[in-house]
Amino acid sequence: MRFVHCSDVHITEDYFALPLRRLGWRRWLALAELTVGGRARRYARAPQALSAIVRDAQAHGVDHFILSGDLPAYALDGEFSGARSALGPLADDPRRCTVIPGNHDVFTPGSHRSGRFARHFGHLLDSDLPEYRREGAFPFVRLLGQEAAVVGLLSARVPFTPGLSYGSIGQAQLDGLAALLKDPRLDGRAVLVAVHHAPLTHQGRADRWSHGLRGAQALLRLLPGPRYAVLHGHIHKRYHHPATADRPHIFGAGSSTEAGHEGYWLIEVAHGQVVGGSPHTPAL
Ligand SMILES: [Fe+2]
Ligand SMILES: [Fe+2]
Repeated sequence: MRFVHCSDVHITEDYFALPLRRLGWRRWLALAELTVGGRARRYARAPQALSAIVRDAQAHGVDHFILSGDLPAYALDGEFSGARSALGPLADDPRRCTVIPGNHDVFTPGSHRSGRFARHFGHLLDSDLPEYRREGAFPFVRLLGQEAAVVGLLSARVPFTPGLSYGSIGQAQLDGLAALLKDPRLDGRAVLVAVHHAPLTHQGRADRWSHGLRGAQALLRLLPGPRYAVLHGHIHKRYHHPATADRPHIFGAGSSTEAGHEGYWLIEVAHGQVVGGSPHTPAL
């Protein structure tokens, strides 16, 4: 079986065409990052890049498409609908597509309270084994074919202030995942766990306090060896740490649509194991 893993597509509205009052103070601060920081320019063609990755996935004949969060720039409704339309009909079908939220999907308390992510992508949080859910829809699992399962975790939290973007899984979800992994319906399957925040940096270390994943070590301990992979985003760098006896493969998809760094992982599963992955650049 084949999987595409992409992340951090950051579909970005034209913030200067919108009434400032509607943006709120958190997004006012972000305007500097968009303009002086050059972020608006780097993501101007994000929808085209995401659509190109979907076309590539179809050309590779992939069984399932995984997007590990940060769909919008700053959680505007138009950014979510832009992401949905760039994904096309693939995003209608939970058998073919898994999407989890990142910190930019809950960038403001208002976007979180109103459940904006779920309004656009809630149907992709369905679970084949809903009895293991512990925090809202999470963890959810999709049993795919005879030899794979995709699990979605929630690590994205509304930041206390802009600038803090750490994530946490929490004990309830870890307990739910531990119970799920013991279910005989997962026997013989490779397990791909999507979570937005990174359990390890590209150098193999824990990410810094203000940006990292709380609960990362406990998560890795639950997933020993090449039967398992953690698929994450958040750090805008693409890297792979192969599995060891004690921890899973770790795939960081980076930002799949950032100009000059577009790309994704093509991950192969055979005989109930994650065999490996290769990085690809979409044909734009
Ligand atoms: Fe991101
Ligand atoms: Fe992020």
